[in-house]
Amino acid sequence: MTQDLITFIGRFHPLWVHLPIGFLIIAVLFKAYMALGKKPAMQEAVSFSMLLGTISALIAAVLGFLLSRSGGYDGDLLDMHLVAGWTTVIFSGIAWWVNKNELRFGKKLNYAVLGFMILALSVTGHFGGSLTHGEDYLTAFAPFGEKQEESKGRVLAKVENAEVFTDVIQPVLRSKCQSCHRPGKTKGELNLVSYETLLKGGENGPVFIAADAEKSELIRRVTLPAEHDDFMPAEGKKPLTEEEVQVLIWWISNGKADPKVSLMGADEEIIAWAKPRLNILGGEKIQALSIDTVHLKALEKMGFRVRVLSHETGALDVVLPSDAAKNQASELLKALLPIKDQIYWLSLAGTGIQDSDLSQIAQFSNLQRLRIENNPISESGISALRSLSKLESLNLNGTKVSTAGLETLAEIHSLKSLFLWNTAIEPQDKKVEKIRAAGVKVVFGS
Ligand code: HEC
Repeated sequence: MTQDLITFIGRFHPLWVHLPIGFLIIAVLFKAYMALGKKPAMQEAVSFSMLLGTISALIAAVLGFLLSRSGGYDGDLLDMHLVAGWTTVIFSGIAWWVNKNELRFGKKLNYAVLGFMILALSVTGHFGGSLTHGEDYLTAFAPFGEKQEESKGRVLAKVENAEVFTDVIQPVLRSKCQSCHRPGKTKGELNLVSYETLLKGGENGPVFIAADAEKSELIRRVTLPAEHDDFMPAEGKKPLTEEEVQVLIWWISNGKADPKVSLMGADEEIIAWAKPRLNILGGEKIQALSIDTVHLKALEKMGFRVRVLSHETGALDVVLPSDAAKNQASELLKALLPIKDQIYWLSLAGTGIQDSDLSQIAQFSNLQRLRIENNPISESGISALRSLSKLESLNLNGTKVSTAGLETLAEIHSLKSLFLWNTAIEPQDKKVEKIRAAGVKVVFGS
């Protein structure tokens, strides 16, 4: 048989295996039903499904053998799957024979053989599943046991400790290549789980040449047109991004494929791209995960509306509706202090806040948008807002702010839009002109 034909036939194995599983299990269920309901008439059905199970298991084993010849699977898992598979074939044959001659062999032996057969069948199926889907396929989402580390890297104390291979490239290989290049399923005889195995190369030898990315098979494979036969990842799996390819190229050419080369030595674009992907202890990533949902729930009970703007940074949009304020806005504002650095947008329109409350708001250091329109606020309160160095948009419509307040506003250099409708300030005021000249859009209603 030609290699292609072997592969073609072998690939029916994953489909076919469901037949013997079905036949053998239904045989056991029939048998159990007989044992409980004492329906001797079913003996024929048990015997027939055992026979079908044995024959189809034999065919499955042959197909599986052909599939294993076509390459791509190897290692201990394959051996165990193979042994368990043939054991299942043999036990189902014995079980058929013993069941047919139950009167001679006795019920106990019959049940024991059936038990072994089901055990062998389960073990075979489990190893088979692990071969195709990975060893943790069955338990990865189990409600018990330890969860697999997400395909992020190890946790680092600081960015300076990051290594290009271990902390940037390996997580990429893990999520995009290892489904086919790992122990137990080393397609092209290439194992990509570690630097050492990568160094060994695949069936055609080394896959990279240090300092020569152009001649490296690894790079050629991931930079081919996606429809090319040799393109990796194969079979239409999610390709590497432009940046991921660039990092690989950089590591091989500039980094001379040294597994210990530091990320800090890489090009600036690479560092900038890689940084947020690192797992830095106490860094933004970790902080981002610490959105305190319990506290947010409590805020919502008090009448706040809270929206997560970015899970990456933990940024929040917080609104206190005027009807929820009930003249106790000052009190309610205190509840925001524990998350003050996460509040990027804040709206307190018409809540009755006063000048004295603005010193609290001035502590929200990441504030970008602030709406405090329609409140009894004047320039004396506004002066506290000077410290908000990220404030881009400020709505003061319908407040008591007068021209004197413009001095403060001119000092907030991050400001981009300012709303002054329904205030005592005149659009033609010289100070307004000055703020406009600094690039701020000043809006006085329609
Ligand atoms: C869906 C399965 C699959 C995925 C995912 C996959 N590969 Fe492959 N890979 C193969 C197969 C099959 C071969 C062998 C056939 C061939 O050479 O094209 C192979 C061969 C290779 C080879 C050549 C080895 C040699 O010595 O001939 C390289 C290099 C390679 N893969 C790199 C990668 C990289 C890098 C990734 C991740 C971006 C990846 N592969 C993802 C299936 C896959």
